[in-house]
Amino acid sequence: MVITYKQINMTQVAEMNSMKLMELEDRYGAHNYHPLPVVLSRGDGVYVWDPEGKRYYDFLSAYSAVNQGHCHPRLVNAMKSQAEQLTLTSRAFYNDKLGPFEKYMTEYFDYDRVLPMNSGVEAVETAMKLCRKWAYQQKGLPEHQAKIVFVEQNFHGRTLAVISASVDPDARDEYGPYMPGIEIIPYDDLDALSTALSDPNVAGFLVEPIQGEAGVVVPSDGYLAKAKALCEEYKVLFIADEVQTGIARTGKLLATCGNCNCEKSCGHQPEIKPDILILGKALSGGMMPVSAVLADDEIMLCIKPGEHGSTFGGNPLACAVAMEALEIVRDEALAERASALGARFRARMQEVVDSTDIASLVRGKGLLNAVVINDTEDSKTAWDICVSLRDAGLLAKPTHGNIIRFAPPLVMTEDQLEECCDIIASVLREYDAKLTR
Ligand SMILES: Cc1ncc(COP(=O)(O)O)c(C=O)c1O
Repeated sequence: MVITYKQINMTQVAEMNSMKLMELEDRYGAHNYHPLPVVLSRGDGVYVWDPEGKRYYDFLSAYSAVNQGHCHPRLVNAMKSQAEQLTLTSRAFYNDKLGPFEKYMTEYFDYDRVLPMNSGVEAVETAMKLCRKWAYQQKGLPEHQAKIVFVEQNFHGRTLAVISASVDPDARDEYGPYMPGIEIIPYDDLDALSTALSDPNVAGFLVEPIQGEAGVVVPSDGYLAKAKALCEEYKVLFIADEVQTGIARTGKLLATCGNCNCEKSCGHQPEIKPDILILGKALSGGMMPVSAVLADDEIMLCIKPGEHGSTFGGNPLACAVAMEALEIVRDEALAERASALGARFRARMQEVVDSTDIASLVRGKGLLNAVVINDTEDSKTAWDICVSLRDAGLLAKPTHGNIIRFAPPLVMTEDQLEECCDIIASVLREYDAKLTR
């Protein structure tokens, strides 16, 4: 039965079961997502619950936004106390949280300045605009000629400018005309990069240090450092989209940190320090949309008052929550946890890869990992495995058909991780048995 809006009051919502809630989304929402059939109504740390009370391990973490775990008590407190004080002023006035947040952020990530936005894609757009401004003001490119180089299989969000740089037909088709000034080259290909950068109109190279949505694609060792060196050689800005990889997810504060030990900031490996750094998602620990672009003076000061902005960007609520979210990352040593747990996860999954035909590969860094299922991209196997994982109490989602991404909150304990590996291994072995029967 389809429920109409007029029939719903809050008590009824509380009483609705998962089937009815899914029906509501299906009937009244735009069909722009294909969620796994599970409804979530509560979260705590690494766990989420459905309305019927079944508990699951969350192995997606809202695409790495919930690195600090669901409803972290310190974040809930920061949110509550700031919400009672002041939430939004716009940037028409100063507010008493933005300055402290900006100082905190720039010291934490070792940049001169930060420009706060909300969603990840807004920060990517901001970086693109900043790069173009810099190109005209500092590199001296002729007006309207600036180009930004992207790589194939990228994912940077959903706006028109950003999908103009996508090669994914689902993201692009029937949204044209596309924005000019974009060149797309293969990922992890330094020759292609060198050729592209030799065009004097190239202003920036915008790249994910590990491609998350593409299925956790890790580039060859040394790729990022060499790409950064090429950018320097051609006076092109190296722009890192760390919306998904940033903030401890890959076992380091940033995936562009090189081999630093994350003692303090991302400044340990200057050879791959991005000229522009883009952050989002876990910057608020999943509490609310908070994103940011960081750069040094020569770049950031190319944008003058009135030339860019956002009503909500830099709001006091976001600033208070983001500072607490970053404090938690340090206090709970989340980068170190991700590094240790990730190594264990890959070792456990490698045992499955080595002893079955169902899983052909495990790859990733820290707690951003993927298992490639031995079937075609348009097969249903990975989806079916995710449905079985759900039934076994663990939530993960396929990306690109036959790849399953595994990215739990970084606050997971060793015992919890072992239990989760048992669940995943046993479901994969079940499917392997069906294959060989
Ligand atoms: C690397 C990367 N950049 C940008 C985005 C877009 O972020 P948002 O969905 O907050 O706009 C995402 C989202 O998954 C992402 O993974």
